[in-house]
Amino acid sequence: SPPLRIALAGLGTVGAGMIRLLETNADIVRARAGRPLEIVAVSARDRSKNRGVDISRFAWEDDMTAMAARGDVDVVVELVGGSDGPALTLARNTIAAGKGLVTANKAMIAHHGMELARLAEAAPAPLKFEAAVAGGIPVVKGLREGTAANAIERIYGILNGTSNYILSTMEATGADFSAVLAEAQAKGYAEADPTFDVGGIDAAHKLSILAGIAFGTCIDFGNVECEGITGVRAADIAQADALGYVIRLIGMADVETGGDGTQRLLQRVKPCLVPKGHPLAHVTGATNAVVAEGNFSGRLLFQGAGAGDGPTASAVVADLIDIARGETSAPFSIPVAEMVAMEPAGSGARTGR
Ligand code: NAP
Ligand code: HSE
Repeated sequence: SPPLRIALAGLGTVGAGMIRLLETNADIVRARAGRPLEIVAVSARDRSKNRGVDISRFAWEDDMTAMAARGDVDVVVELVGGSDGPALTLARNTIAAGKGLVTANKAMIAHHGMELARLAEAAPAPLKFEAAVAGGIPVVKGLREGTAANAIERIYGILNGTSNYILSTMEATGADFSAVLAEAQAKGYAEADPTFDVGGIDAAHKLSILAGIAFGTCIDFGNVECEGITGVRAADIAQADALGYVIRLIGMADVETGGDGTQRLLQRVKPCLVPKGHPLAHVTGATNAVVAEGNFSGRLLFQGAGAGDGPTASAVVADLIDIARGETSAPFSIPVAEMVAMEPAGSGARTGR
C-alpha cells in the first residue's frame, strides 16, 4: 500500500519525540497501519536548531500554514501549540483541503474544537487529538469508543502533569515551588507559558474536551471554574499530611439535573485534599489519572504518563495509524449537530475565555 505522507509542524519536545518513535518503531507502526508512515515535510521557527533528530531528509517549509496545500501530503500533524495564530490557520487550511489533521493542542481544541469538528465532518476529513488530553493515556479513545454504550455520570482526575510533578515532589522532598517548576520545564512537561500549568488553565482545557466527549455536549471551556496551585504552600502540604491527606489538582465534571429536568454542566479545576488511601493520592510525578463512572461499565481508571516526549508521541502516532487504516469516525463521541449546549452549574470563578 502507498505510504501515508505526513507534514509535521513543530519540532520541539513532542515533534522530535514523534520523529524518534517513527524511526525506532518503524516496523511495528507499518504492521499496525498496514502501510508505512512517512514524514515528507517539516516546519518550525528555527531551521538551524539542533533537535537531536535528523531532519535533513525532510523538505523544510518556512511558513507552516502552507503545509496543507502541498500536493505530496495526506495528513498534517500540528505540534506547535497556541489556541489561535498559525496553529489554527494550519488546522483550518488542512481540513478545508480535505486532509487529515492530528494535533496535541488542547488549547486550540478547547477554544475551537467545535468549529474544527464541524469543518471536519463536512469535508469530510479526519480530525484527531488523542495527545491533547493526558499525554500517553488513550483516554479520548477510551471514552469515545470504550464507554460508548454508557451514560457517563462523572469524570474526574489529575489532568496536568506539571502541577502533579510539583505537588508530589514538594510533598516528598519539601523542595521549593519554583525550583520544582524549573525541573518540570527542563523535563519538557510544561507548556510554553507555564502559568497555564500552574494556574489550572491547561487542566481546564483538557477537562472541557473530556466533558464534551463524555456527555455529548458542546465544549464549554469558558465555564470551567478554575483555580491552580500557585497558592499552595509547603505549609499547606505539611498540614494536609498531618491530617491524612495529600493535595492534588483535580479536574471534575458532572451533569446536575434540576427539579424541572434541566441539565446543567459542572466543570471545576481546583486543588483538593485527597485521602492517602485513595488511588489518586498515589499518582505522583508527571503521571495523569482519569476516573470515568459509566452507568453500566462502573468506575474506570485510566492512568499513565500525562506529559513528556515519548508518551505524547505515542498518542500522536496512534492517531496517525487510525488515519492510515481509513478510520473515519466523528471527532467527538457524536456529530456536532447532535450535541446539546448545556447551561453551566456552580458559582465559582470561571476561565471566562
Ligand atoms: P515545544 O517544545 O515548545 O515545541 C513547539 C514547536 O513549535 C517548536 O519546534 C517551535 O519551533 C515551533 N513553533 C512555535 N511557534 C511557532 C511558529 N509561530 N511558527 C512555526 N513554528 C513554531 O512544545 P511541545 O512541548 O512539543 O508542545 C507542542 C504541542 O503539544 C502543544 O500544543 C502542547 O500543548 C502539546 N502537548 C505537549 C505535551 C508535552 O508533554 N510537552 C504533552 C501533550 C500535549 P522552534 O523549535 O524552532 O522554536
Ligand atoms: N503541560 C502539560 C502538562 C503537558 O504538564 O500536563 C501535557 O498535556
